Amino acid sequence: MQISVSYLTSFYSKEKTIKLIEETKADYLHVDLMDGLFVPNKNFDLKEITPLLINHKLPLDIHLMVLDPLLYINDLKKLNPEYITFHLEATKDVIKTIQVLKENHIKVGLSIKPQTNILELMPYLSFVDLVLVMSVEPGAGGQSFLKETSNRLKTLINYRTENNLSFKIEVDGGINNNTILLVKDVDIAVIGSYICKSNNYNNQIMKIQSILND
Ligand code: DX5
Ligand code: ZN
Repeated sequence: MQISVSYLTSFYSKEKTIKLIEETKADYLHVDLMDGLFVPNKNFDLKEITPLLINHKLPLDIHLMVLDPLLYINDLKKLNPEYITFHLEATKDVIKTIQVLKENHIKVGLSIKPQTNILELMPYLSFVDLVLVMSVEPGAGGQSFLKETSNRLKTLINYRTENNLSFKIEVDGGINNNTILLVKDVDIAVIGSYICKSNNYNNQIMKIQSILND
């Protein structure tokens, strides 16, 4: 399993947190962007985050919690992201958004909130590179993992196998040393506060990996 570290909830400034994450063996830097419309909080301004992220070393896994993902793609592509993930619930233009990301050679992620029926993803699964299953309500770090997520992941994994599809599955929210085993079959786990509210980021990553390898 790969680990994508979210800098959203941390003891330190964004700048220092990003620097500390980049010194670890994480696989991705998870960038949570919230517009204050799709979720209550707004947490970014492109002018502020661009200089913080432009020289990133880890591949960027951008998670857009915004109402209109098409507004941001042109600016975000300057950061050379590996994935841009947007929410199924955010836009009526799911296919158009997928197309625009593909035209820009950015891998496409589609995310789903905990209350949305997983079957609503099905029409899009042959066109996306990644599905991000939220295991908390999007909008804040440090929430508790919603246990129903395990069954939703199973449904998605079975569908992928039965239909011979190849999208990656990522889970986001409330992942720590206790909940990691509930999501052990996903490709990528997003982890925020368990890592960034600790004194040693790499130790926390190694703890997760050793639990998975046991
Ligand atoms: C929640 C964000 C998550 C969050 C994860 O809306 O999308 O990426 O930062 O943080 P933890 O691991 O603390 O739940
Ligand atoms: Zn996220």
